[in-house]
Amino acid sequence: MTPDSGAGDGSREPCRLIIAIDGPSAAGKSTISRLLARRLGLQFINTGAMYRAVAYKASRSGVDVFDTGSISRLADQSNIELKGDPDDLRIFCDGEDVTRALRSPEVSRLSSIVSAVPGVRRAMVAAQRKMGERGGVVLEGRDIGTQVFPQADYKFFLVADPEVRARRRWEEERTAGHELTFDQLRSEIDERDRRDETRGDSPLRRASDAILIDSSKLTIEEVVEQILERIRPRS
Ligand code: DC
Repeated sequence: MTPDSGAGDGSREPCRLIIAIDGPSAAGKSTISRLLARRLGLQFINTGAMYRAVAYKASRSGVDVFDTGSISRLADQSNIELKGDPDDLRIFCDGEDVTRALRSPEVSRLSSIVSAVPGVRRAMVAAQRKMGERGGVVLEGRDIGTQVFPQADYKFFLVADPEVRARRRWEEERTAGHELTFDQLRSEIDERDRRDETRGDSPLRRASDAILIDSSKLTIEEVVEQILERIRPRS
């Protein structure tokens, strides 16, 4: 069996479903996964936030993100938990609520580096499988359909034109009060795409059985509707 050949047949009870949403950064995965989880009454697991928590902890404790041994140990020794409902997901690292700190441009940059380290990925994937093994979850990330839950009931791969993604992210950042120019953001998105797609361990790629959705010209609601149409029974 290839890693991504085992998608479920959709016969699991609706409250036990495992839904995988993968794709490049700023393709709208978080917003869409959150809405989807809310509409279906499922738990939302934002796996990117877990890599961000590792990056944040490393920067706060002075661990060099390029020192793969130290960063892997740090990931192994971290207790990362996601709590709350989809509309107010809180991320805890060793008991501390770090949610707010995780969105900074610096953490975005560092998380892209630490997520390429195999030891970090091993620790995070193990934690994600534990969180989702009972089902009833929407997981968003880069490798959910290929590595974390290749047997997920439904897999979606969300893409959007890089220019559109950069514009959406720029508007979010401005709202959050982060001072980045559009050009800076565009080149950061390109850089993160490149790193996510070319890393040796679990590079970003679409599982062969994932449904591709290009959101460049769709509203968030339209994407959610397209996904819901594929999920039976209809909500
Ligand atoms: O989705 P995000 O921007 O919050 O993710 C942060 C970083 O973590 C990003 O560089 C990609 C990486 N990531 C990953 O490698 N695997 C995942 N399942 C989720 C995120």
